[in-house]
Amino acid sequence: MSAAPTSIPPKSPRGRRPLHVAVAGATGAVGEELLRLLDERDFPLASLRLLASARSAGTTLRFRGTEIPVEELTDASFRGTDVAFFSCGGDRSLRFAPAAVASGAVVVDNSSAYRMDPKVPLVVPEINGDAALAHEGILAVPNCTTIVFLMGVAPLHREARLVRAVCSSYQAASGAGRSALLEYEAQVRARAEGREPAAKALPRVLVGNVIPQVDVFLPDGSTKEEVKLDRETRKILGDDRVRVAATCVRVPVPRAHSVSCALEFERPMTPERAREVLASAPGVVLRDLPERASVDGKPAREYPTPLDVSGRLEVFVGRLRADPSREGGLMLWAVGDQLLKGAAWNAVQIAELLIERGRL
Ligand SMILES: NC(=O)c1ccc[n+]([C@@H]2O[C@H](COP(=O)([O-])OP(=O)(O)OC[C@H]3O[C@@H](n4cnc5c(N)ncnc54)[C@H](OP(=O)(O)O)[C@@H]3O)[C@@H](O)[C@H]2O)c1
Repeated sequence: MSAAPTSIPPKSPRGRRPLHVAVAGATGAVGEELLRLLDERDFPLASLRLLASARSAGTTLRFRGTEIPVEELTDASFRGTDVAFFSCGGDRSLRFAPAAVASGAVVVDNSSAYRMDPKVPLVVPEINGDAALAHEGILAVPNCTTIVFLMGVAPLHREARLVRAVCSSYQAASGAGRSALLEYEAQVRARAEGREPAAKALPRVLVGNVIPQVDVFLPDGSTKEEVKLDRETRKILGDDRVRVAATCVRVPVPRAHSVSCALEFERPMTPERAREVLASAPGVVLRDLPERASVDGKPAREYPTPLDVSGRLEVFVGRLRADPSREGGLMLWAVGDQLLKGAAWNAVQIAELLIERGRL
C-alpha cells in the first residue's frame, strides 16, 4: 500500500516551558510506544522518569542515546512531575494516579480505571478534544477498540446521527500486553516445530485459531471489552441514545485491531457521502477502492489490513457499502494500530492538546 498522506504534524508543539514527564509502565508494550513517540516527536521534555514494577527496578531503557534507570512506581514517584502517562493496568492507576495528581501532575491514563468516572474526561482529540479542558487532574484514553471504531464512525455521526451499531472486532495479540504477544509468537514457533502450543496469558491457543473472548465475562454473557465499546461510545459522542452491540474477538495477528460495523443512522447515510465525509476527517485515511475499480487496468483491491496499518498513527477505513438489511444503513471496516492510536499516540495527543491550549 502506498504511503498515505497525513495531516498529523511530525513534531510536538512547544509550550511555555519544557515539561517534567513520568511514564508509569515504561517497560510494557504501550510504554515502549510512548517512549518512541516522545523521542520521534521531539516532545518538549525537561526530564523523563521511567516507572514500572519492582521486577524492573534497576534495569535501564535507552532514550535519546542515554540509558535511563527504571524505578519502582511508588507514591513518591511524581514529585515535580508535570505530566504522568499511566500504562500499567487499572489497579495501579487507581492506586497511584491520585498520588500523582496530589503532587501536581496531570495524569493521562491508558487503563479502564477512570474512563466512566463522570469527573474524568474520556478523550479522542479528533472527536471531543474540548472535553480535555474540563479535567480535574486525570484524563482517560478510551478503550483501543472503541477508538478505532469511533475514528471511522464519529465523522458520520456528526452528519447523520448514529443510533445503533452492530460490530465484530478482530483484535491483535499485543492488545493483551507484551506477555500475550510473546506467548503468541512462541505458539507460532511451537506449531512450526511440531510441538503443542501452550496458552497462559491468552485464554486459548491463538495460533491457527480465533478466540471470541477479550477481557473477562460478565453475568449477562458479554465480555467487559464488549460493554466498554457500548458505554464509552455514548460518553465520547455525548449522546445517550447510541447503542453498540459488539462481539470482540482475538485473532492471530501481532498488532493492529480491526472492526467490522453495521451502522444505523437517524438520517440515511450513503456510501458515496460517507466516502466524502471520511476523506476529509482528521486522523482518518480512506482506503476504499473495491475490486470493480482499477488502477492502471489492474483490480485495485484497496482496503486496510492490520499489516498495512501497523506503525501508523491514523485509523484506516474501507469496505464502505450499503447495508442490505437496513434502508439507509452503512457497512464499514476500520483498522488502527491499537498500541499507537488506541493507546500511546492518543495519550501523547492529549498532552499535546493541553500544551497547545496553554494548559501545560
Ligand atoms: N496493549 C494494548 O494494545 C493496550 C491498548 C490500550 C490500552 N492498554 C492499557 O495500557 C495498560 C498497559 O498495557 P500494556 O499492553 O502495555 O501491558 P504490558 O505490556 O503487560 O505492560 C505492563 C506494564 O505495567 C507495569 N506493571 C505491572 N505491574 C506493576 C506494578 N505492580 N507496579 C508498577 N508497574 C507495574 C509493567 O512493569 P514490569 O515490566 O516491571 O512488569 C509494564 O511496564 C493496561 O492498562 C492496558 O489495559 C493496552
